[in-house]
Formats: sequence, C-alpha cells, structure tokens
Amino acid sequence: MTTKKVYLEWDESFNCGVEIVDWQHRRLVDLLNLLGDAIVQGRSAGVLGEIFGEMYHYAGYHFKTEEKLMQDHDYPDYEAHKEIHVLFTHDLIKLLKRDAKGEAEMDRTLFRFITEWLLKHTFGETDSADRRMGRFMNECGVR
Ligand SMILES: [Fe+2]
Ligand SMILES: [Fe+2]
Repeated sequence: MTTKKVYLEWDESFNCGVEIVDWQHRRLVDLLNLLGDAIVQGRSAGVLGEIFGEMYHYAGYHFKTEEKLMQDHDYPDYEAHKEIHVLFTHDLIKLLKRDAKGEAEMDRTLFRFITEWLLKHTFGETDSADRRMGRFMNECGVR
C-alpha cells in the first residue's frame, strides 16, 4: 500500500478566522500537495500542466473573494493587500511560461515558489497579510 505524502500539512493554526477564506486556503493546500505528489511521481507534463492550471485559476478566484470582502468592509490595507496578489499572479505567470517552454527543474521551482508564498502571505507568520485581514474581518463581525 502506498501512502500519499503530504508536503504542506494543514494545521488548525492556519485558520485566519473567516470561514470562506479558510476553506479556500485548505483547497490551495490540497492542490499544492497534489502537485508535490505529481512531481515526485514523475507525472507527465500534461498532468502537471492540469494541476498548475487549476492552481492558477483557483488562486485567482480566491484573491477575488478576499478582495471583495476587503472592499465590502472598507479594509484600510486593501490596496497593499491586493498588490501582493497582483505581484504573485505576475510572478506565477512568468514561471508558468518558463515551465511551458520546457526549462529544466521548473516544476520544482514552481512548487517551491507557491509553497513559500503561501507560507509567507497566508500561514507562516502570526502577522501575515491574510491573518491581519482575518482579524479585521472578525472585528467587523465576519466569521
Ligand atoms: Fe488568501
Ligand atoms: Fe490574500
């Protein structure tokens, strides 16, 4: 029997306190683990491309959710937070293009880039941008 390896294990401490956002963050972590697995198992470029595509689209959808929440509640750091999403998307597209051209080791580079970004922007630091947003939303009564 093969056990699936988990690359980034969901931890309750990752929660920022807003249900829809936390739910979407879990989905991003699931996709990341799927990606890690596909890379290690040497899946085809087609399979990896599918997962990268899903990751890209889901991240975009997730950012829209957060941005709408921030706008609806006049979040004071809205512009700065949105800019972080824009920069991530920009960098992700650049890396995906290099990957599509067949540049060596790009799958792993992408995996690392996404993991590190998620840890920094979302989970890793007690004062991450998503956590700050979550605290503000909780103060507005959003759970
Ligand atoms: Fe987020
Ligand atoms: Fe965010």
